[in-house]
Amino acid sequence: MISSPLMTVMVDAVRKASRGLRRDFGEVENLQVSRKGPGDFVSAADRKAEEVLREALMKARPGYGLVLEENGVIEGTDKSHTWHVDPLDGTANFLHGIPHFAISVGLEREGQIVAGVIYDPVKDELFVAERGKGAYLNNRRLRVSGRTDMADALIAYGTPYLGRGSHPRLLREVGAVMAVAGGTRRMGSAALDLAYVACGRLDGYWERDLQTYDFAAGIILVREAGGFVASADGAAEPLAPRSVCAGNETLQRQLLALLKKSQG
Ligand code: IPD
Ligand code: CA
Ligand code: CA
Repeated sequence: MISSPLMTVMVDAVRKASRGLRRDFGEVENLQVSRKGPGDFVSAADRKAEEVLREALMKARPGYGLVLEENGVIEGTDKSHTWHVDPLDGTANFLHGIPHFAISVGLEREGQIVAGVIYDPVKDELFVAERGKGAYLNNRRLRVSGRTDMADALIAYGTPYLGRGSHPRLLREVGAVMAVAGGTRRMGSAALDLAYVACGRLDGYWERDLQTYDFAAGIILVREAGGFVASADGAAEPLAPRSVCAGNETLQRQLLALLKKSQG
């Protein structure tokens, strides 16, 4: 585990916000059967969690800026530091009672993500990474998978929701990957997809049309676990292009080539 003042701040904030989320997830199951569904209840849970994170992070590091899903951008006086905060990544899973979602907090310093925490409150899995200090799941040091043959690989991707992103492009990409990969997954949380690449459960992952708070923390997790991260078009820094392609050195390179080729 990493012991640094910064990690303490991030982990404390995330754990604090997770208590409400875990409680609210228990309620969601009861609301599935109502005609209106749990939509409003989940939005409120999401906002509450963000409020807890915002307060904790602002208190601990008053000058830092924030990019928040619900409250947008809050400019800080310290222009070199920005938090990227997703209080609930995997909302559709949460809403449908599927226990696969996470809180994600990444810290950007001068354009680079230098620390990340992703917490899955249902499985009690805490993924942390800090630049130069490694990546951990609970107390275990992480390493990306060692597989190098695409035919053995499990590759995840993200699908744009109704009315968003390019569905035809994604279908071409998925077609190209399915033709050669051992298996594919659409898990429903970009943050956990990257955390799973970092710990070797997934061999690769790509997604387009993301927001920075979806994948900021995941970038550092994969890199500190010895993996490679670029944008889906191969740009070295994925934050600005807001797309991501991650994996170990061999499979990430192959995945990037497949994505490129699929566009004809
Ligand atoms: C979403 C999840 C999903 C990804 C979407 C994101 P949300 O975040 O990360 O896996 O495919 O692009 O918007 O809305 O659940 O916070
Ligand atoms: Ca969210
Ligand atoms: Ca998200």
